[in-house]
Amino acid sequence: MKGLFITLEGGEGSGKSTAINAINEYFVSRGYKTMVSREPGGIKIGEEIRSVILNKENTMMTPECETLLYAASRIQLLHERIIPALNDGVVVILDRYIDSSFVYQGVARGVGIKNVERANSFALSYMPDITFFLDVRPEVGLKRLSGRDKMDRLDLESIDFHNRVYNGYLEVMDMYKDRIVRINGEQSPELVIKEITEVLDKRIKG
Ligand code: TYD
Repeated sequence: MKGLFITLEGGEGSGKSTAINAINEYFVSRGYKTMVSREPGGIKIGEEIRSVILNKENTMMTPECETLLYAASRIQLLHERIIPALNDGVVVILDRYIDSSFVYQGVARGVGIKNVERANSFALSYMPDITFFLDVRPEVGLKRLSGRDKMDRLDLESIDFHNRVYNGYLEVMDMYKDRIVRINGEQSPELVIKEITEVLDKRIKG
């Protein structure tokens, strides 16, 4: 039996963790076996690649190199964990996947979505069945994170980056209309979960 591959996407403060817990609970309560993960997923090779990406001494790293490293870490997680789980009939719920690369590297860092697709060519054969995009405008997401009402303490450059990320998500959503489901993430958590549940009900009942 083939499992179900679900990914969650969104900017900072979009409520992905709450949504992931709810999706996991949805399937567990219906007797499905689930696996919740995020890149690099605790796998050794993935962690080592990730530490190269995050190492503050690597100031020379180009966006193109960063793209390839994310792609390398991703393909390892796919082969080590995700594909075997899906082949076992498990519902795999992943916090961020290839769309994050399209948006963060492709759009926000200017590599270009086509180039990111090329860099991720191995993963393109394993696209998610459903991707939930939690749509929260950057100013709302950042306010949630800072717990403040005023944005004036956040530097403009970072706001500009988050705006590019947000616009990137809109662009990618347009490219993958059948796969990506937009959820209004600015509603209360209860309503977010309700919207997601309705989508899952439809998928499960076919
Ligand atoms: P993380 O601490 O997991 O943040 P979040 O809670 O927002 O998911 O860090 C993930 C960061 O890595 C996030 O800023 C997006 C970035 N990222 C990329 O730039 N490209 C990618 O392909 C992935 C998976 C993540």
